Amino acid sequence: MVDLSVKLAKVHLPNPLINASGIYGSDIPDIIKTAEAKTGAVLYKTTTIEERNGNKVPRYWQDELFALNSIGLPNKGYKYLIQITPEVKQKTTKPMITSLLGFSFEEYITLCKAYNDSAVDIIEVNFSCPNIEGKPQAAYNFEYLPKLMKACREAAPDKPLFAKLPAYLDPSQRKMVAKMLIDSKFQGVTLINSLGESLLVNAKTEKTYIRPNNGLAGLTGKAIKPVALGNVWGFYNLLKDSGIQIMGVGGIECGLDVFEFILCGADAVQIGTAYIRQGTAVFEKMENELIQIMNEKGYTSLNDFRGKLKIWGD
Ligand code: SIN
Repeated sequence: MVDLSVKLAKVHLPNPLINASGIYGSDIPDIIKTAEAKTGAVLYKTTTIEERNGNKVPRYWQDELFALNSIGLPNKGYKYLIQITPEVKQKTTKPMITSLLGFSFEEYITLCKAYNDSAVDIIEVNFSCPNIEGKPQAAYNFEYLPKLMKACREAAPDKPLFAKLPAYLDPSQRKMVAKMLIDSKFQGVTLINSLGESLLVNAKTEKTYIRPNNGLAGLTGKAIKPVALGNVWGFYNLLKDSGIQIMGVGGIECGLDVFEFILCGADAVQIGTAYIRQGTAVFEKMENELIQIMNEKGYTSLNDFRGKLKIWGD
């Protein structure tokens, strides 16, 4: 009998499959739809202080390999999500993870404080949205980020905090950020957000597919899986003795992908683009595929293989 359950901080999840923030999770029907699927927890769409409509359309495009988004954080504002969470919790026992992003230091603190006093189970702090023109990602500002992380921690002492980070493409950056996570006592990290400043060109029309930000946007989908796995494995090796957990995200389309992320050290995974493409059924499909792989390999729990990737030649 295979046990897929996992604990994120002290929060129990029946399985490691979570919807990625940014897809659904903005109102009660949306949240319940995801809770009724074979998810282990539900993650809200990132909330900001004020309600936002997001960027101009077209702001999303996909083909088999890639998806490009510049959604621009449309949401009803944090107060709305805090207000509906008790009602959501009457309809489902699944843990609720919120996501927040501030446009200033003070906004991050206000949001962390408010969610600390709310009914959500875990807070994912988004330091890495690439789609807001004129607002650089906090996660690439290595002087600002440690101060911000510490202040978020102080503002939300009672909730597990996960930092949503972008891809870091140099080991020195990863080392710096791993130390920041440890120093600021975050419980976890979500790796990776979409690959910002990406461009896909429609050669037929000679136009960009996306309207905002000169056509530049965040890349997701199958094609980014190697970058996501590299970040998960790289951070896992720096964080494994600290107790800081990892949610892996990026290009996960099937149970085999889930297996690979856990093998590289992920405690749980998030599914974004594949959720858009395949609908709520994607979670059951992935769960069944993961169980089949574990049965074939004789694993009975995720701990049997988490972080146990072997290096060729060893
Ligand atoms: C968006 O709404 O633009 C996506 C959110 C994100 O990338 O963090």
